[in-house]
Amino acid sequence: PMLPVILSGGSGTRLWPLSREQSPKQFLRLTSSLSLLQRTLTRLDGLESETPLLMGHHAHRFLMAEQLREIDRAGTLVLEPEGRNTAPAIACAALLAGRDEADPLLLVLPADHEIEDEAAFVESVARAQALAEQGYLVTFGVVPTRAETGYGYIRCGEALEGGYRLASFIEKPDADRAAALVAQGDTLWNSGMFLLRASHYLEELERLRPDILMACRAAIEGAHRDLDFLRLSEAAFAECPSESIDYAVMEQCRHAAVVPLDAGWSDIGSFDALWAAKAPDAAGNVVDGDVVLSDTCDSLVIARHRLVATHGVEDLVVVETPDSVLVTRREHAQQVKGLVAQLALAG
Ligand code: GDD
Ligand code: MG
Repeated sequence: PMLPVILSGGSGTRLWPLSREQSPKQFLRLTSSLSLLQRTLTRLDGLESETPLLMGHHAHRFLMAEQLREIDRAGTLVLEPEGRNTAPAIACAALLAGRDEADPLLLVLPADHEIEDEAAFVESVARAQALAEQGYLVTFGVVPTRAETGYGYIRCGEALEGGYRLASFIEKPDADRAAALVAQGDTLWNSGMFLLRASHYLEELERLRPDILMACRAAIEGAHRDLDFLRLSEAAFAECPSESIDYAVMEQCRHAAVVPLDAGWSDIGSFDALWAAKAPDAAGNVVDGDVVLSDTCDSLVIARHRLVATHGVEDLVVVETPDSVLVTRREHAQQVKGLVAQLALAG
């Protein structure tokens, strides 16, 4: 049986002022009337899988529970007292899954991505399942379209039934390396989704990062139920190093494979990516809310609380919220992250 593990503990800052500490990207209704977390959960309908584990931050527990209730889906909510990135979150999920002698395949899914073509997603998961059952740790790879430095890159090796052996994995290369990897032609972006046998991941972690595994074991042993939530031991998890699965495991992993994913995937990493994911109109505009455009093109305007009107502009991002308004050029949308760091410093 396959057990979905939804990673819902991130705090995406590049979509400020829509995303906030109290309500990060995964909880926002960006691409439809469902939030990205809800889209991730309903995407599972096409698969045969168990009740998912939701790994998230305790500050978001009611938000997670409410969003599950809204779409009438079940999930086991596991709360991290503090974020320790994805390697520990997946380790805790694998340890929980491995209780009672079970050893399921874990379908690890970020809660904050958009996938347009659900049938293609289901098909890729089926191909990955065949490889994971042969003992491969499987990633899902997307054909790169630019030299993005915020992603992991996978070099494809020997062809396998349904995918490729993973020749190497390079997490977040610098700009020159990313350009070289894209030019090479045999590389794919890591989508951040994985299919892996719980025991296989724990073995790799034991080999590569026994410190993380030890802290997670203690956090699970000391976990306690609180209402509908399972809380990891605060003291034990505080001792856990913070590291992503990509750096901790994937870069040094043995016996890994990649399955291509051609399903309209986007991690909506910026307002520019949101603009692209929302299918701009003939003038290249995407609007949401109370917006009037005149002589405007190639822009994204979101205004859900007040009327926003633009005239004689192009390539703009305008995002209105009750307490803040962002205006930037679309090509600079990635740098909102730096802006938010500046705002945090300014208090
Ligand atoms: N439970 C939990 N706890 N989830 C977390 C934590 C945590 O401490 N930190 C991050 N997450 C969740 C995020 O919410 C997101 O869904 C997922 O884990 C990945 O984390 P990101 O912080 O968004 O990673 P990234 O975007 O920098 O990089 C990853 O994704 C890229 C594709 O979008 C890597 O896997 C890259 O290799 C990949 O290309
Ligand atoms: Mg991400």
